[in-house]
Amino acid sequence: MTDLTTYLTSTQLAYDTAAGAYAEIVPPLFPQDLYAHAVFGVFAERVKRAGGGPVADLGCGPGHVTAHLDSLGLSAFGVDLSPKTVAEARRAHPGLRFEEGTMTGLDLADGSLGGVVAWYSTVHTPPELLPTVFAEFHRVLAPGGHLLLGFKVGDLLRHLDHAYGHDLSLDVYWLDPEHVLGLVEQAGLQVEAQLIREPEEYERATQGRQAILIARKPDDATA
Ligand SMILES: C[S@@+](CC[C@H](N)C(=O)[O-])C[C@H]1O[C@@H](n2cnc3c(N)ncnc32)[C@H](O)[C@@H]1O
Repeated sequence: MTDLTTYLTSTQLAYDTAAGAYAEIVPPLFPQDLYAHAVFGVFAERVKRAGGGPVADLGCGPGHVTAHLDSLGLSAFGVDLSPKTVAEARRAHPGLRFEEGTMTGLDLADGSLGGVVAWYSTVHTPPELLPTVFAEFHRVLAPGGHLLLGFKVGDLLRHLDHAYGHDLSLDVYWLDPEHVLGLVEQAGLQVEAQLIREPEEYERATQGRQAILIARKPDDATA
């Protein structure tokens, strides 16, 4: 079992090490994820119809997803654990706001967001800490606000000691979508949709199925 401090310290170190390479390799792949783009469109429309409000891209990496949310007409900003990754995001998208922070304890007011996106950023969170993270998402969302999650499907922990051309130490969890759905509901969010897709051609060598989940904080939620 990994404790909170070990998870945060090791994940930050890994992404600080790989920040430059990650920023070169991953953003160009995002436009190839056609299912993601369809669901991001739905998410953006849901947030707008629920009254808009700021949208936090939590675990934003180099900011390409934040920029996509911005292009969809959302008031998006990014938060990431890794200072070097935040620097990459600021460099790539100087017109957008990026902050350092952790989704296990966000520096954001209760009910202040119209949307939360966690796009492959909970994949490093030890599953026993996911209730803490989902409780944070619930806390910062306004009633009627939406959550969009992307994650890897499976039942395994993959430990990487080399990635993006660097030696590092990083845990990646592949999770059962039904388990994740249950944790999201236990946090007080209502699941609206879940999509499971097969790996795209460019992912097949290293990836399995991928999941996208959209949930909503009830209108009558108090906290
Ligand atoms: C696989 S990358 C995904 C980045 C980006 N969302 C994307 O789709 O390319 C995971 C990101 O989540 C960040 N991260 C992991 N745990 C975090 C936490 N507790 N709080 C904030 N960011 C976190 C990492 O620093 C890294 O940038």
